[in-house]
Amino acid sequence: MKAHELRNTYIEFFVSKDHTQISGHSLIPENDPTVLFTTAGMHPLVPYILGESHPAGNRLVNFQKCIRTGDIDAVGDASHLTFFEMLGNWSLGDYFKEDAIRMSFEFLTSPKWLGFDVSRLSVTVFAGDDEVPRDEESARIWNSLGIPAERIFYLPRKDNWWGPAGETGPCGPDSEMFIDTGKPACSTSCAPGCHCGKYFEIWNDVFMQYKKTSDGSYEKLERTCVDTGMGIERTIAMLQHKGSVYETELFAPVIKMIEGLSGASYGADESSDVSIRIIADHIRTSVFILGDEQSVSPSNLGQGYILRRLIRRAVRHGKKLGIEGAFLSSLVDTVVDQYQQAYPMLLEKVSEIKEELQAEEDRFSTALLKGEHEFEKLIPNLLKGPQRVIPGRIAFRLYDTYGFPLELTEELAAERGFTVDRAGFEKAFEKHQEASRAGAEKTFKGGLADHSEMTTALHTATHLLHKALRDVLGDHVQQKGSNITVDRLRFDFTHPVKMTAQEIARVEQIVNEQIERDLPVTMEVMTLEEAREAGALAFFDSKYGEQVKVYSVGDFSKEVCGGPHVTRTGTMGRFKIKKEQSSSAGVRRIKAVLA
Ligand code: ALA
Repeated sequence: MKAHELRNTYIEFFVSKDHTQISGHSLIPENDPTVLFTTAGMHPLVPYILGESHPAGNRLVNFQKCIRTGDIDAVGDASHLTFFEMLGNWSLGDYFKEDAIRMSFEFLTSPKWLGFDVSRLSVTVFAGDDEVPRDEESARIWNSLGIPAERIFYLPRKDNWWGPAGETGPCGPDSEMFIDTGKPACSTSCAPGCHCGKYFEIWNDVFMQYKKTSDGSYEKLERTCVDTGMGIERTIAMLQHKGSVYETELFAPVIKMIEGLSGASYGADESSDVSIRIIADHIRTSVFILGDEQSVSPSNLGQGYILRRLIRRAVRHGKKLGIEGAFLSSLVDTVVDQYQQAYPMLLEKVSEIKEELQAEEDRFSTALLKGEHEFEKLIPNLLKGPQRVIPGRIAFRLYDTYGFPLELTEELAAERGFTVDRAGFEKAFEKHQEASRAGAEKTFKGGLADHSEMTTALHTATHLLHKALRDVLGDHVQQKGSNITVDRLRFDFTHPVKMTAQEIARVEQIVNEQIERDLPVTMEVMTLEEAREAGALAFFDSKYGEQVKVYSVGDFSKEVCGGPHVTRTGTMGRFKIKKEQSSSAGVRRIKAVLA
């Protein structure tokens, strides 16, 4: 079974079990400052897991593009990917463990669906600890379906628990499903959860049944939810009896292109294989970021910085393989070919994607030249010192500022009779990595989105701003991105030139007038087509006939949106634009506050 068949089969199965298919979301989470990228299918559904009603009902299914880059530097082995697709089904206060596990088992093992041999399937369940009891219920259900006790493993919280760590909110045990690849066990203790490659995790059922309270205890939730996630790449690798995701049709064509460009052959040498996998992974992720509904360009900040790192790392590995000249944009069509049906926007943006890649590759070449120049300047000073060693912090600066690979610094150093303090480099690198991990991206396990009063008010302010911008600047203004923290809103929109001071003042005035009018905020559910007819702003595609929520702020604004919002505008505070700047070509960015 190929990836596109798996997407369709999964949706078909859950629709046959009364689920409604909903669209996937952008890779850039809206209104959630806790993460840079959408890291799981449940991520855009957090408000509904927290209790908002979903317009499409209580049983949902979809496929969602996801990015997890916490571990960029681990990519290169057989299973780490920075981009992946997650299939998911959800129960919002509807079915719970029994039905969820039964459906997972049927989908995995029935010959009508995936048809995995039951003997290849192992599962894990939560082992229990001082705070929450062992999940015997899930174990019993798996066992009753035919998974023998010796293939049901009890694992601790770090493996089988999903939800906020150290914060409050819904959480619960999960149950993961593993396929035995048939490889020999690495030791007598080898079991699901071991990273030797014998067991491949393909699916996770999360049972949101507790609420962590502010005193750190766990209360039972009245409205329990199920959140599941199946990895497409891993599952097709197992269905196709492949040893790694890179051997599937999602990667094979691009690997062939890289072989052609470099003359390397995949499978011949481990070090070239790592470089090939890194390029294949990073080009795919970069294409999806550049081809997203929201605009992201390479930069030194946030998502743009991750994109820059991915592109530059791919280029470096291209050079390592001996590829001469810029090459990344020549791989784009091959990637897009695989995905254009499921993600038509990639095809629309294909030339933009190629241009951005080309420009970033050029910028990187210039930076490399500058780095070399910088390196030359260092040498006379170092020659005065007692030892012929380039300090680790200098090697790291070359790496961090100019994107200079350590190996390149070592090569240049060797030509002059120097060595590089590798340990010092690693230390500086780790220190930086810890800082950027802590600051730039928490994976979703770190915490649920913030729904404090302030973020809710800023969300409503975003709707007022959007409409006010259209009133002042014109109907070409379209939302390109939105991000809210407790302190401010950030709003990206299409507009070709810098706003004048008068325009900014006028927009502020309009928003504040609407706040002062103390308008009621109301919500209606309708199809996207009906919403558009009713004049609601909606700048995204969704499945035909899909139910959406439309929020109206009095008679002033009407917009398709998941919520939540304030009930009246009167108490929001005073709206002030703090900054208006360029975000990317043709896109402006506003930062604003409510004081
Ligand atoms: N949200 C769960 C996961 O990503 C299903 O594993």
